[in-house]
Amino acid sequence: MLTDEEFRLFRNLIYEESGIFLKDTRKEFLEHRLAKRMLANNVVSPYWYYRQVAEKKKELLILLDILTVNETSFFRNRPQIDLFRDIVLPELFDKKRGTGQKSLRIWSAGCSTGEEPYTLAMVTHEVINPYAGWQVRIFASDLSLTALDTAAKGLYDPDKVQATVEDHYITRYFDKSEGQLRVKDQIKKMVIFDFHNLKNDNGLADLDVIFCRNVMIYFNLDDQKTLVEKFYRSLSPGGYLIVGHAESLQGMDTPFQFIYNNKGTAYRKPEGREHV
Ligand SMILES: C[S@@+](CC[C@H](N)C(=O)[O-])C[C@H]1O[C@@H](n2cnc3c(N)ncnc32)[C@H](O)[C@@H]1O
Repeated sequence: MLTDEEFRLFRNLIYEESGIFLKDTRKEFLEHRLAKRMLANNVVSPYWYYRQVAEKKKELLILLDILTVNETSFFRNRPQIDLFRDIVLPELFDKKRGTGQKSLRIWSAGCSTGEEPYTLAMVTHEVINPYAGWQVRIFASDLSLTALDTAAKGLYDPDKVQATVEDHYITRYFDKSEGQLRVKDQIKKMVIFDFHNLKNDNGLADLDVIFCRNVMIYFNLDDQKTLVEKFYRSLSPGGYLIVGHAESLQGMDTPFQFIYNNKGTAYRKPEGREHV
């Protein structure tokens, strides 16, 4: 249904707008997704649909949304969450306590349906007890508006929650609600969800931790490097970047220090190095 030329048109547009690069092997996937939107828009030719997408911001957002892969889970890649709890948080709390600062700023970039930022909120909540009066803000952003909708509701299938969340966390941080599990308000209010396309500048600064996991794999190497440079600038000295287990900064010339602990990995911005 999609000619090679049409495939290239869409691929370029999607890449330019989101950084998501569709390899040749993804042609059939694109065809399926396009077929849905063409039907919804009453358009029979991919080229006419392309023109609609190129001209209408709203249709572009819908198309990008249905092309994103939103797979995620609570406590995904446990060694990284443990490293965050056991190494990153204590170090940041101690360092800040020394300077009288009582706030922590974390960003979940590419947060999908919310499981990652809520995990970070729960874990931080567990650790923060001795630090009364601290303000923890978790910024959580994504390109997919439907994923953000689900995230903001904070309502999850109990089977999926129970598959990766320990019982004591469920008891403490979820309420039962009509056959679903709802994230409690004390956790919800720590997280601020927002639309953000990682292809654009984020405007966030002085961050202590950035989680950007399983997002860069959809970007080509040049865009990954650009993104990592932006993350570097957004972090405070001594801040941490945590990427997915299949992602790394290998081959990128950055001052980040590599941290490894019990199979968990992270990258630390050195103190006193503002620029890449
Ligand atoms: C596989 S999910 C990963 C979710 C979570 N970080 C995790 O590791 O479980 C990838 C997410 O990245 C988002 N994404 C892809 N390209 C993006 C872009 N250019 N800007 C913002 N988010 C993007 C997708 O919408 C999707 O929700």
